[in-house]
Amino acid sequence: MTSPQPRPRLHQPKRTVSIIGTGSYVPERVLTNAELEKSVETSDEWIVSRTGIKERRIAADDEHTSDLASKAALAALENAGITADEIDLILVATVTPDMFFPSTACFVQAKIGAKNAACFDLSAACSGFLYALEVAQQFITSHTYNTILVIGADKLSSIVDWKDRNTCVLFGDGAGAAVLRHRGGSHGVIATHMGSNGDLADILYIPGGGCRHPISAENVDQRLNSIKMNGKETYKQAVNAMLTAANTVLEKSGLKFEDLSCIIPHQANLRIIEAIAGRMGVPMDRFMINLDRFGNTSAAAVAIALDEAHRTGRMQIGDYVLLVVFGGGLTWASSVIQW
Ligand SMILES: CC(C)(COP(=O)(O)OP(=O)(O)OC[C@H]1O[C@@H](n2cnc3c(N)ncnc32)[C@H](O)[C@@H]1OP(=O)(O)O)[C@@H](O)C(=O)NCCC(=O)NCCS
Repeated sequence: MTSPQPRPRLHQPKRTVSIIGTGSYVPERVLTNAELEKSVETSDEWIVSRTGIKERRIAADDEHTSDLASKAALAALENAGITADEIDLILVATVTPDMFFPSTACFVQAKIGAKNAACFDLSAACSGFLYALEVAQQFITSHTYNTILVIGADKLSSIVDWKDRNTCVLFGDGAGAAVLRHRGGSHGVIATHMGSNGDLADILYIPGGGCRHPISAENVDQRLNSIKMNGKETYKQAVNAMLTAANTVLEKSGLKFEDLSCIIPHQANLRIIEAIAGRMGVPMDRFMINLDRFGNTSAAAVAIALDEAHRTGRMQIGDYVLLVVFGGGLTWASSVIQW
């Protein structure tokens, strides 16, 4: 029997994938630690010393994940200098979709007028943006698509238990976006590493709302539809997974920590970032940090930080940048990009 003919795209050379534009959006409403002191037994001093978070943004009731995502997307398109009809694929990483279906990516498509795009969502919790970046780059290197809009967006305020001080002080709402395209030359994603450990799903999760515990008055009364977290175990796993992910992707890239101009980590807790910086032997000023202003915005966090690093000139053409994330699942991922 003769083997099937390879499809034409397999004959084409692998191509580099660059981020040609970034954008982000956070809601206007600022929720300070002082305000949280009024609703749960906590203090600004406790939150700042244990997490580094001073305030976070909260979306309006009628402002949905797709609204946050669309605003970040439009900023990224403008930054890239392209129009919405040039987008071949929209990927939205989120754990707070507008609805179970259709996908939030479809809502974004309608809102920004990307009429030529295919659309789907991806679920990898706080690691979602880097997972989506890798999926997008595979579509571009395989010549399936040319231009892909990758978005990390979450409205965590809609799934936070506002009576649980262990979690409600940590999270915020927002969205970040990147436009990916083959640009020529050597710039682009050099290597990516992704990992998961489903055995530890129950240290950070939402038990209710899916088919195991469908929405019911009883399940809602038991608060099964909001975030549950074992903070100490999550902290320990986050430090180990982000360090391993960073080391693995550097090894794949043939680079060392001292070659990196900027490290953009998941924005969950300043102490987690300080712990990995110490173990990497990298000074803190090499890390992009904005969690003091936005808290942990899940899939959006690293995307917002990437946009801020880009717009504030922290990366110059040719610089090596490391992105590293961790989230529920458990999931983790890292990417090295030559800017
Ligand atoms: C949640 C977290 C900040 C707690 O910090 P910690 O150093 O582990 O907490 P500590 O051991 O110092 O303190 C725990 C105590 O503080 C209390 N506490 C928890 N939240 C509090 C709050 N907001 N205000 C005041 N006290 C609080 C706890 O009830 C506990 O009290 P107890 O000892 O009487 O039971 C930390 O574990 C963490 O950041 N974990 C990772 C969370 C994360 O990143 N999640 C998302 C990953 S994508």
